[in-house]
Amino acid sequence: MRIRLERPEDAPTIRALTDAAFKGMPFSNQTEAKVIDALRAAGALTLSLVATEGSEIVGHVAFSPVKINGEASDWYGLGPVSVWPDRQRTGIGQALIRDGIRRLRSLSAGGCVLFGNPAYYRRFGFESDPDLYDVDAPPGAFQRLPLNSSRPRGEVSFHPAFEVS
Ligand SMILES: CC(C)(COP(=O)(O)OP(=O)(O)OC[C@H]1O[C@@H](n2cnc3c(N)ncnc32)[C@H](O)[C@@H]1OP(=O)(O)O)[C@@H](O)C(=O)NCCC(=O)NCCS
Repeated sequence: MRIRLERPEDAPTIRALTDAAFKGMPFSNQTEAKVIDALRAAGALTLSLVATEGSEIVGHVAFSPVKINGEASDWYGLGPVSVWPDRQRTGIGQALIRDGIRRLRSLSAGGCVLFGNPAYYRRFGFESDPDLYDVDAPPGAFQRLPLNSSRPRGEVSFHPAFEVS
């Protein structure tokens, strides 16, 4: 498996993969593929990584800038992240997330936030922090990973592209 930045011709596959991965997920409103398209259209897809096996795309992860207390920041939101259903739980998601975090460090990012199951994300160092929160998040689902010594406090907001319906 290899991981690389998306290319323009990958967009339809990323859309199909994301729809397939989130289909039927109780926490999803099935807008994740549209969110990626809206981030791309807004120039806010800071990192869009695909995992490939041969010529086949098997997974995808997006990172986009977040605001803290309404101000631009050097923190990024992770997600959506998707692996084809028949390829899940074989390490693809972890490889994408680890590679994305490494690339964020090389962009001198201050940190990364996400919504997700702590049972999955704690392995990467993500934790809840009462000082850094998203008022819309279900309890425990919003987690952060600092990538330098800064520890911002306050309310995080994802890019408006996450509000597409
Ligand atoms: C979540 C997702 C990206 C993880 O990628 P993956 O390649 O399937 O997972 P990996 O092989 O990297 O990791 C497997 C491990 O994660 C655990 N895991 C996978 N998905 C999990 C989840 N949603 N919640 C908790 N644990 C999960 C597995 O039990 C396994 O644990 P182990 O290493 O202790 O055995 C993928 O399963 C997916 O596309 N899911 C549907 C879409 C989705 O839920 N996206 C994330 C929303 S926050």
